[in-house]
Amino acid sequence: MAEALADKSWFQEAHYGMFVHWGPYAVAGRGEWVMNRERIPAAEYREKYVQNFRAENYDPAAWVRLAVEAGMKYVVLTTRHHDGFCLWDTKTSENNAMNFGPRRDLLRPFADAVRAAGLKLGFYYSGADWTHPDYPDAFARDWAKGWQSPEHRARFIAYYKAQLRELMTQYGKVDLLWYDGCSPADMREPAANLMVRELQPHIMINNRNGEPCDFQCSEQTIKPAAEGTPWEACMTLNDNWGYHASDRNWKRAGDVLGMLLETRKSGGNLLLNVGPKADGTIPAETVAILREAGAWIRRHEEIFPGVDRSPFTWNNSSKLTVRGNTIYVNFEKVGPREMCVADIRNRVLSARHVGSGRAIPFEQRMNEGRLFLRELPGREEEPLVATIALAVEGKPQSIATQENFWIPT
Ligand code: GLC
Repeated sequence: MAEALADKSWFQEAHYGMFVHWGPYAVAGRGEWVMNRERIPAAEYREKYVQNFRAENYDPAAWVRLAVEAGMKYVVLTTRHHDGFCLWDTKTSENNAMNFGPRRDLLRPFADAVRAAGLKLGFYYSGADWTHPDYPDAFARDWAKGWQSPEHRARFIAYYKAQLRELMTQYGKVDLLWYDGCSPADMREPAANLMVRELQPHIMINNRNGEPCDFQCSEQTIKPAAEGTPWEACMTLNDNWGYHASDRNWKRAGDVLGMLLETRKSGGNLLLNVGPKADGTIPAETVAILREAGAWIRRHEEIFPGVDRSPFTWNNSSKLTVRGNTIYVNFEKVGPREMCVADIRNRVLSARHVGSGRAIPFEQRMNEGRLFLRELPGREEEPLVATIALAVEGKPQSIATQENFWIPT
């Protein structure tokens, strides 16, 4: 038991992971909900998209190299999304990558590549299956719709448990199980998670299939869990999870760092999504953004270890993260070379620009509660985010905490 628990500590230390949404919907290039949103009958979906999903340039080692370059520590792949198509060799359904499209098991080389690089392996699994005969309604626009009969429900639950059993027994050690929702609430079965736990005792399970689970997740928003609870925010890099050919709304590398620092600030993880094309290659824009942010992360590795929560709320110019007796002032809006931070109660002993190691002149007016940082790096020295490490006396403390913000709704 002690060993199993120790095995889970990687999660909170990881801070950054890659989410991969990949399946036949990439052929359509209109996001992973295309079947439901366009009311595409299963037969048509199979003919147009599943059959043309060839994965001809699929190289999971290349995905993993990108994750490493990006500074990520774990990778989570959609083993089966809501369209029911299984990327693995399953005996539970004919709707899989062995029978159609690629005609091979796509999951095994992925699992091998992730492990070979020393990263943690995560499987996403959707509780919905729009192609299963017992599933309530493929084209539902909400998931409250009930089962046709208790037998339909029981059969479906037996089916998804059989799938989970395969995933948990055929691919060696799995570090994380990422359940999705968008399925009727009464599917949540403690028995499923208990079975998963029995098969993979160290596994981290998210909170979308009821109890027992190990971490909380928020989607497209960064919402810290209560202190002591491991948590993760999953976010897209444009506005879609699955590949969308006309979605050009890419976040910048600076935005990625902003999200990463925001999660780090409250001791959480960022699970950032990539949506490979149908051939298995990751869009060039995605690669460039992740690499640019990754180069920064590698130069700032000292700010990541640990799970310390920052006592500082917000100010207009910087995000304050903490680690032990160090406060990191992270800011993107460089503008003038001087800034004032008015949140810190502790005496500041030294200030250093992490990117270059250069000492930063500072003046602290303890009676005013203001810290002036001078000769800050400009854009030419630090194009993305500048980080100033402040060594302080004692545990970092804020002058005033803010619990809420009054906004009429
Ligand atoms: C939503 C969507 C799904 C996506 C998931 C990721 O639940 O249904 O397409 O996989 O979010 O968090």
